[in-house]
Amino acid sequence: MFEPPTTVEPRLQIVELPRTGAEHRFPDDVRAGLASRPKTLPSKYFYDDLGSALFDAITHLPEYYLTEAETEILREWGWEIVRMLDGPLEFLELGSGSAVKTRLLIDEALRVQPTLRYSPIDISLDALRSSSNALIERFGGLGVRAYAGDYFAVLASDALRFEHRVLAMLMGSNIGNYSPAEARALIALVGAKLRPGDALLLGADRKKDRATLELAYDDPTGVTASFDKNILARINRELGGTFDLRAFDHVATYDTERGCVDSFLRSRFAQRVRVAALELELSFEPGETIHTESSYKFDERDIAQLAAAGGFTLEKAWSDARKRFGVYLLVR
Ligand code: AVJ
Repeated sequence: MFEPPTTVEPRLQIVELPRTGAEHRFPDDVRAGLASRPKTLPSKYFYDDLGSALFDAITHLPEYYLTEAETEILREWGWEIVRMLDGPLEFLELGSGSAVKTRLLIDEALRVQPTLRYSPIDISLDALRSSSNALIERFGGLGVRAYAGDYFAVLASDALRFEHRVLAMLMGSNIGNYSPAEARALIALVGAKLRPGDALLLGADRKKDRATLELAYDDPTGVTASFDKNILARINRELGGTFDLRAFDHVATYDTERGCVDSFLRSRFAQRVRVAALELELSFEPGETIHTESSYKFDERDIAQLAAAGGFTLEKAWSDARKRFGVYLLVR
């Protein structure tokens, strides 16, 4: 007789958090940013569906070496990374995007344990759906429980539940978009969610020469410029803005003091812009900028300090052969 399986967890669950209002802050954040002097917009708003697709294109650019360098490290050292902790493990990934690099670690984990739970958190529901479906199709032993939302919101909620030792991941130099104080707070929040013996794998771009960094953030193909300008397009689409994207230039400069690449949109000439939904009328001076992103760079000392601030110790560091990028294991 056919016995239906009784306790089979669905292999894919997507959890959308109860709305907290944080999702609706775009209009207010745009208003506040454009009222600041200098003008600024939060980089987290790059990632609507088009912005996520443009970022994915950036990761294919030869000038944006970060993805290639991090992938090299995971290919070379993934086996060692998953063997650093006593299993069985489960994975929690903050900001998974297309999850292409994560496959390397999932693949390694499934060599040492028969099944694995992977819990990605991402702001883009589209990216989560497509990457999660691709992953369960590829890996028979994998269960995915995906969380759609801002990672601060997901971490602060009680939606997360762990069964095994957790290897959390914050890859791709995503940590670089936070100010030093925010970065410490985020690592501390992750630390507070984990138990002793759990770990955080952190991928972070290294400090290096200005020319390499500025080219990585202003590629000759113009993909990064499009990615940056998409934030204005998003204001046009969602808030009835009248930004002329051709009237702004994308600029990226490395500040060696702060160890940070800053991205700006610079007005080519004096102009006025309206944002209907905000009943806002803006004016720009010639050359006036909107700051759109900070991408901090880290040496090993920076990472050790960040680890300590979150109650972690830096257990091991890996680099690509050209020492462009770092992957760090922080243990609670
Ligand atoms: C996804 C935040 C890691 O800062 O390097 C790429 C985003 N901005 N090119 C970065 C980005 C311009 C990227 N992070």
